Amino acid sequence: MPSQPKGITVQFLLDCDPGHDDMLTIFLAAKHLDVVGITTVSGNQSLEKTTRNARRSVELAGLTHIPIAKGLPRPLVNEVRYAPEIHGQSGLDGVALPEPTVELSPLHAVDFIIEASHTYDELVLVPAGPLTNIAAALIKDPTLVERVKEISLMGGSMTYGGSTAAAEFNIYVDPEAADVVFRSGLPIKMFGLNVTRMASATVERLDRIRDIGTPFARTVADLVEFYRASLHNVYGLDGASIHDPLAVAVYIRPELFTMQAMNVQIELNGTHTRGMTVCDYRYVGREGKGIYGESGIIRGAEANAEVAVDMDVDGFFDLLTDTLALY
Ligand code: BDR
Ligand code: CA
Repeated sequence: MPSQPKGITVQFLLDCDPGHDDMLTIFLAAKHLDVVGITTVSGNQSLEKTTRNARRSVELAGLTHIPIAKGLPRPLVNEVRYAPEIHGQSGLDGVALPEPTVELSPLHAVDFIIEASHTYDELVLVPAGPLTNIAAALIKDPTLVERVKEISLMGGSMTYGGSTAAAEFNIYVDPEAADVVFRSGLPIKMFGLNVTRMASATVERLDRIRDIGTPFARTVADLVEFYRASLHNVYGLDGASIHDPLAVAVYIRPELFTMQAMNVQIELNGTHTRGMTVCDYRYVGREGKGIYGESGIIRGAEANAEVAVDMDVDGFFDLLTDTLALY
């Protein structure tokens, strides 16, 4: 299976709020990439629950060598918001996983991120939840931008929202944090709902995972089946959107994705649009430079992100299924 080319050492830190698709991100990344840590954040459920789920995930997969650091319990400004209607009361409903015993890192997630940036030369941050921890790390240590290679995140959308008509959950929960990250100057890859909804785990695709036949694969399929049924009930979707894993899959199989450079700003006010990722793709494909019309009005602002616009869905599910078969 394709993996990092030999000789290239890039390290990955997963910042997440497990969450069914966050769990899959851990499993996908750990078999192909050098994962140096998992940091947890409040999002799909409370910080206590997402941290417990990160610990349960690494125990389920035999990945307890990956350190887990607990992060911030609420967004920078907003009140907390969770997603029990999607991921259940535990944040990882569907199978009663055992109570985890693996210890947490003594470091707070924000310090873990900063410390990792000193330890590793080529550190990629992969946020798969609200951007609270990442923003707090950037605020606590502004020199972080000089040491992080890039950010590859699941969040936002070029088109429709999920939590509101305009806003996707991870950005909607903590728009101020997202604003800090998108204005940081760090290179950003963005996987928003416009592409992650394509990655739809239908009953047939889940059956392929179940048919791997191992206890691990059956447990994963049962967990994701809960999530699929939730998304069907809430949004009427046919399959479970496997959002978060796309942000790591791009490093394993880059050819699966079509990315476009564009300017992305976070709407912080907006009567109906708070938390929207305003994607300026009027002039995409023209080197991502700002373009000014004669009137002085910007006709295409300078790109600050590479946004996923299309993907090879079957290729992605082959990768995911083949990877889960390795456990
Ligand atoms: C995002 O929200 C969460 O429910 C998922 O884990 C994903 O990160 C999708 O909007
Ligand atoms: Ca998530």
